[in-house]
Amino acid sequence: MNTLILKENSDLIIAGEILKNGGLVAIPTETVYGLAANALNPVAVKNIYKAKGRPSDNPLIVHVNSVKMVEELATDIPNEFYKLTKAFWPGPLTIILNKNNIIPKETSGGLDTVAFRMPESTTALEIIENANCPIAAPSANISGSPSPTTFKHVYNDMFGRIDAIVKGDDCEFGLESTVLTLCTNPPKILRPGCVSLEEIKEILPSVEYDDGVTTHIEDNQKVSSPGMKYRHYSPNAEIIVSKLSLEGYIKLLNSDKDACALCFDGEEQYFCNKAIAYGKIYNSKSQARNLFSALHKLDELGFKKVYARCPMKKNVGMAVYNRLIRSAGFHEITPEVQIIGLTGPTGAGKTMVSKEFEKNGYAVIDCDKVTRENETYTINCLNRLRDVFGNDIIENGSLNRRKLAEKAFSSKENTIKLNETVFPYIVSAINNKIEAIVNSGNKKILLDAPTLFEANADRFCTHIVAVIADKQTRLKRILSRDNITEIMAYDRMNSQYNDKFYTDRADYVIYNQGDNLDISEIISKLGTE
Ligand code: TXA
Ligand code: MG
Repeated sequence: MNTLILKENSDLIIAGEILKNGGLVAIPTETVYGLAANALNPVAVKNIYKAKGRPSDNPLIVHVNSVKMVEELATDIPNEFYKLTKAFWPGPLTIILNKNNIIPKETSGGLDTVAFRMPESTTALEIIENANCPIAAPSANISGSPSPTTFKHVYNDMFGRIDAIVKGDDCEFGLESTVLTLCTNPPKILRPGCVSLEEIKEILPSVEYDDGVTTHIEDNQKVSSPGMKYRHYSPNAEIIVSKLSLEGYIKLLNSDKDACALCFDGEEQYFCNKAIAYGKIYNSKSQARNLFSALHKLDELGFKKVYARCPMKKNVGMAVYNRLIRSAGFHEITPEVQIIGLTGPTGAGKTMVSKEFEKNGYAVIDCDKVTRENETYTINCLNRLRDVFGNDIIENGSLNRRKLAEKAFSSKENTIKLNETVFPYIVSAINNKIEAIVNSGNKKILLDAPTLFEANADRFCTHIVAVIADKQTRLKRILSRDNITEIMAYDRMNSQYNDKFYTDRADYVIYNQGDNLDISEIISKLGTE
């Protein structure tokens, strides 16, 4: 088949005409490229399944350009639908409703329900407008392989199989839409995406993940969404998801030199293996945007075995995890020792929380104490400090702390210099303590570390827990604990990162206002991960 390549700015009328006439056109959207056909034309829809090699019981999403279009195709529309569309449409949220008879069974995969989405992409909206009908569009890839997020991906999979491809920019979100059904009580997320559970909860507090999102559905089990049971998002390479700390991950790769690393940006430097990065650490949106491109790249480079860094499983991170774990066929490596990084701003009540962990069998390493211990300041460390701050910080072979503090805290630059010089030695002292605990047989460790990220000690952690409290509570705690004025306390609070810095990086957040501190739920979740 001759496949036309259409331009986004001049050829969208042609795209509309092809769709009107029952043809297939690949179109860009803000999530992934879609393979579009007239959703009301059963023959055209059948051709989608053929072009993709998709099982015919896996229903398609119907793309619309108005809520009114949905009203013409669905029945028993609940009020929640209007609340959700007001908040999230146009955008990457697909909503499942009961269908009426206008939607052919080919489109709904034989189900009585049908999925609707109004894309945000102006190109996609204009194509729907030009075609003057609802558009069925699954992702424009061969069934089973990673979804396409660039024109080149679509071209590689679909050229010669369909009538046209609209050449657009790379997709903004990079993962398929969130699929939510309003046909169950409570409403359920069947596929996580860039509209997160946490955001939907603000409108529909009862919403939850379907079991199939978080657990592996066996072949003989009933699924809520046919898409859950098929092999998905898989490159040719064998992928194994590592739930180890960065430190453990580096050791893993160094012990298997032929394997490729699928890591976060900037981590490539740690291994001699080939490495492909798929986004920034602690930034799920960046990982979402890059994951499928990275999976495509693995195939281009012909890798056989790949160890992937595991994303955080909250907000958009859950969508990244969902795709990655499926691309790995649920194959993962879990750590033998759990190392929790406990962090947060001053006065938030970390010590209180750390005591709770201790009661639950965790060996606690007080990282603040490590920064003050003599054994941290090795001969090498002292020599480095002397090179940076001058001979007079050493007195009779040992550190003159008062002198060092005077110099290091005299300016911001000097404080940075101090941290850069000392942090590697602190990390190595923490490492020694971790090894000693592991050798003693304890497999649960807590790093109580106010400067977890500054010191790069997050590299040891399998999980991160942030402790947060409101400013008044923190002020009260600081004033009663440290002998300083209110102004000094404010200065100290303001010189630190804000709450968002910590909560963005944490797997779990504890709001510690002091009363009824109960972390049993988090402890039990950590036990199952
Ligand atoms: O972002 C997206 O949603 C992209 C772009 C092109 O819009 N489309 C997309 O479609 O990802 P597709 O066909 O690859 O995925 C649709 C998913 C499948 O997992 C399917 O099983 C599920 O939605 N689905 C569709 N209708 C359903 C229904 N009535 N009940 C349960 N699951 C349904
Ligand atoms: Mg798909």
